[in-house]
Amino acid sequence: MKNLFQSRNYERLGSEGSEDDDTKTGENPGRARSNHPILGIVLTILNIGLLILHGALFAHASSSPKAARNQQLRDCSYFSPFFDRLEIPYATKQINASLANEDDSIWRKPPSADVDAAWDRVSKLGYHTVTSADVVALGKNPELTVRAPAHWGMGDDAHIVQLDVTHQIHCLNAIRKAMYPEYYPVRRVMKDVHPQHCLHVLLQNLMCDASVDVMTYNWMETQRNPFPDMSINKKCRDYEAVLKWHEEHLVPLTEKVYRPEGAREIHLTPKLRELLEAHEGDNPDDTVGDTGR
Ligand SMILES: *[C@@H]1O[C@H](CO)[C@@H](O)[C@H](O)[C@H]1NC(C)=O
Repeated sequence: MKNLFQSRNYERLGSEGSEDDDTKTGENPGRARSNHPILGIVLTILNIGLLILHGALFAHASSSPKAARNQQLRDCSYFSPFFDRLEIPYATKQINASLANEDDSIWRKPPSADVDAAWDRVSKLGYHTVTSADVVALGKNPELTVRAPAHWGMGDDAHIVQLDVTHQIHCLNAIRKAMYPEYYPVRRVMKDVHPQHCLHVLLQNLMCDASVDVMTYNWMETQRNPFPDMSINKKCRDYEAVLKWHEEHLVPLTEKVYRPEGAREIHLTPKLRELLEAHEGDNPDDTVGDTGR
């Protein structure tokens, strides 16, 4: 990118300058120069300027090796301290989208212990920690974010955080469970509220991604209309790599985080107050990791 940009500039400057010079130097070198004294000076200054710019870009690129880690992901993402901490490989994957479940995927199966185990693995919630500077870069106020307890041994500048993708999949799982109310009985209050919250969150994430990947159509026997081929090829982040790092580094949600004396609190909205009061007495672990989103 950088080279392309620069070589084009050099080319343009060089060709303008040398064409003038070459034709005229052939006939009368002395006159050619005196014809464009100002142009010559301007070109020289431009050349020196480009040289300095080139040097500065080179120095910048070689002095910050960390900037290269996950650089392409950073370019199209909001700030995340995790880009520094793990390598996120890409892979081309084909979406398994057979309408009749020819691939017999576990993700489509009705509830069972195996299905629950599979979903729990890919949506495992857990704490990580980030610094105050990270919190600021995230657009949040470190005076208001919860710090890790001292006994975790992470120092006093460790704020607890959650990985977005695990919450997203957790949310999809909540919608899946709402499809099977007999297998997954829900408290009356949260029955609609939780899946509604999850639908809204996932919709916004899909729109945020605004995929312009492409589906083709086929003619299929017995079918009157063009049949969409939804098994498209996509360039994907390697979820297993992210999950592996997450599992190796997370602090389990079962670790209690107690509120210190004099901690600053955020205020309840009236609607949330009503919801949480109605919810009181239920097992809060069922929605842990979900409140406040
Ligand atoms: C589709 O299924 C195959 C076989 O189970 C699997 O290897 C592949 O990763 C799946 N594709 C996606 C996008 O999950």
